[in-house]
Amino acid sequence: MRDLILKELKNQDHVSGEHLAKKFSISRTAIWKHINELRKVGYEIESHPHYGYALVKNTDLLIPEEINFELNTNVIGKRIMHLNEIDSTQNIADKLARDGAEEGTCVIAEKQTSGRGRRSRNWASPFKDGVYISIILRPNLKPLHIIQIPLIAGVALVKAIEKTTGLTPSIKWPNDIFLSGHKVAGILTEVNCDIDTVHYIVLGMGINVNTRKAALPKEVKDIATSLSEECGHEVSRVDFLKNLLVELETVYSDFVTNGFENTGKQWMAYNNTIGSNITVNDGQNVFEGKAVDIDEDGFLIIQTDDHQTQRIISADVTLKK
Ligand code: BTN
Repeated sequence: MRDLILKELKNQDHVSGEHLAKKFSISRTAIWKHINELRKVGYEIESHPHYGYALVKNTDLLIPEEINFELNTNVIGKRIMHLNEIDSTQNIADKLARDGAEEGTCVIAEKQTSGRGRRSRNWASPFKDGVYISIILRPNLKPLHIIQIPLIAGVALVKAIEKTTGLTPSIKWPNDIFLSGHKVAGILTEVNCDIDTVHYIVLGMGINVNTRKAALPKEVKDIATSLSEECGHEVSRVDFLKNLLVELETVYSDFVTNGFENTGKQWMAYNNTIGSNITVNDGQNVFEGKAVDIDEDGFLIIQTDDHQTQRIISADVTLKK
């Protein structure tokens, strides 16, 4: 009901309690209660004795009513769980997926107390500064090809950043998103699979939207940035998130239908890694070389300094100056 009332308010300058009560066959008191609920989640709604209710400001919380409003997707974001504070959205999404939640279900938090990144790193997630989201995917994929999922998400992220801000981000293999040489967003892909079947994937994305450098932990202050730091003004998290869900649906459905080729080409167009001299840390060895390509599976091909060709499945890559 709350979303239906909100839709009426968004589509008209003023709407009377009587009109809403009639339209939804509930009492004017019930309407008034819903209006107060909307106010509590951040909508500014004026009430006037003659004209009725007027929506004067949207909420800046990433609540389902706001994100779903005229959201042009069929799968991604059709179901959204919103939390003010949680340890990690990955944990909740994993539980929902285990219980059978449908593909595209999103878990979004305003703040994470134990946000995690790749290789058990911490992901700073201050209240209402960034977008912290985990999305359940159920692709028909061999475990060997899981690396393609974060590459796809990387393409969706750079497109959403471009569309929302006009900035030009790049992707460092496999999936760190950079602006002016600083990391602005990261992707964490957690998988539930057995030896030959992927049961589900929890795709986690963390984006520093209005995060001030001062709010970041000192280990990352010098290497991280945010959309607002780069734009010089605040960025609407709602607009950005809606753009992200639409872009993700576009690249993901192309991938599901046609395979990785097209997304692989798009990834190439945005990447900052191929052609660069890099240091690779695969968790066991650290070695140097030149990144020369990604193959049709999404693995990184490098030429090491001793002229060997190596195919990298998973590693941390540092670009050499
Ligand atoms: C990385 O760059 O290491 C990946 C960072 C991923 C962070 C996101 S925020 C939403 C989701 N919940 C988490 O705990 N982590 C991911």
